[in-house]
Amino acid sequence: MSYQIAIDGPAGAGKSTIAKEIAKRLGFIYVDTGAMYRAMALYLLRKEIPMDDSGKISDASQAADITIAYKDGLQQVLLDGENVTGLLRTEEVGNMASVSSANPDVRKKLVELQQELAGRENVVMDGRDIGTCVLPAADVKIYLTASVGCRAKRRFDELTAKGEACDLAVIEADIAKRDHQDMTREHSPLRQAEDAVLLDSSELTIQEVVEKILALVKR
Ligand code: DC
Repeated sequence: MSYQIAIDGPAGAGKSTIAKEIAKRLGFIYVDTGAMYRAMALYLLRKEIPMDDSGKISDASQAADITIAYKDGLQQVLLDGENVTGLLRTEEVGNMASVSSANPDVRKKLVELQQELAGRENVVMDGRDIGTCVLPAADVKIYLTASVGCRAKRRFDELTAKGEACDLAVIEADIAKRDHQDMTREHSPLRQAEDAVLLDSSELTIQEVVEKILALVKR
């Protein structure tokens, strides 16, 4: 039986950084489910499917061939055999993903793939519905959050370090909007599973969060 660690929470709480570090420390594989929703969004954009046509999104999504591979321990997402990992972190793809991930047919297809992966390997999986829907029997469930202000400031620092011009107030409004969309959607909204441990990273360093989760695993 594989060992499963589920980490859910809003965008920008530090899920992927923390999940990657835990996977490395435990020798588990890290599964970034957001990247799968982004690959699906890229597929829909390439097919020029309109964002507001849920019927077309449902139909088109069924033909997308999304698979996961690992290179140097890092997850690679293959779309129809092409490694699209480097194309997923754009605003355009993120905006499409936030709409298409609300579609029940898209979710059904990707959840099946996620469950299959977690059935054969020890995983640290992060997303929005891992503890509530994808892996309801996960061994450890974490709900990782941080204040909107704190998540906005981290994103602002990240972009500024890359030399990109940005506005803190705009970033903060965008994060608040994404939270609202993720938490109020009809299918698999973001929420803390009843048996998940709540961790707020606003006042904690990455290492402190990692140690807290590892302590839960050891227990
Ligand atoms: O975490 P991210 O920004 O890469 O996620 C991209 C989009 O996919 C975001 O709108 C939330 C959505 N998502 C989801 O609905 N369920 C998941 N398990 C993971 C991501």
